[in-house]
Amino acid sequence: MALDENTRALAQKIIDLYPQSRSALLPMLHLVQGEEGYVSQAGIEFCAEVLGISAAEVGGVATFYTMYKRRPTGEHLVSVCTNTLCGMLGGDKIYAELSDELGVGHNETTDDGTITLEHAECLAACDYAPVVTVNYEFFDKQSVQSAKELVASLRAGQKPKPTRGAQITSFREAELELAGVLDDELVAAKVASVDNIESSLRGLKLARERGETAPAADYNTPIAAKEENK
Ligand code: FES
Repeated sequence: MALDENTRALAQKIIDLYPQSRSALLPMLHLVQGEEGYVSQAGIEFCAEVLGISAAEVGGVATFYTMYKRRPTGEHLVSVCTNTLCGMLGGDKIYAELSDELGVGHNETTDDGTITLEHAECLAACDYAPVVTVNYEFFDKQSVQSAKELVASLRAGQKPKPTRGAQITSFREAELELAGVLDDELVAAKVASVDNIESSLRGLKLARERGETAPAADYNTPIAAKEENK
């Protein structure tokens, strides 16, 4: 899909949220992925043009973060955590078996275009290891068998329910959500689908019970002055 006038309007919506347009680069790259399924060369040039920075600066960011894909991504991004804890508890085996079954390696996409597989660093859910995410929604405590069933259901066009959080969308919709420009109706549907998040909110609940709050933000003092005052 081309980066067209509609993309330009969405880009402006994102840029307007920031005091300096260049600060909008990360969500802009998600917007490009939402439109194209990856960060193409055209996407890099688009970001550079609308943000008033060089293509080299955009490329440097796009190639640094693993969430930005430089090759076309399938309908769903399946991420298998192979960091230490998940790896030891079965993540390595899950990744190897899925790779065999799907016939793809890291960051590769199945011939039918449904699944891009990646092995991921810690997905911040070690207490639910081994963890798999689909378009960044969590499927906790996976086994080889459950992970195979998960990808089979995705390939059959189904939308399996994550262990917690919101219903999955496609990879592109997830990217538009990360960019903050997902269609309002889809956002409402995702919010309405949120389920089983008590464990994720436990820290917040404890902080409230104890009356703990984050320090007030000071947006007016320059960072250098804050460092000097330490
Ligand atoms: S090691 Fe897998 S979620 Fe942390």
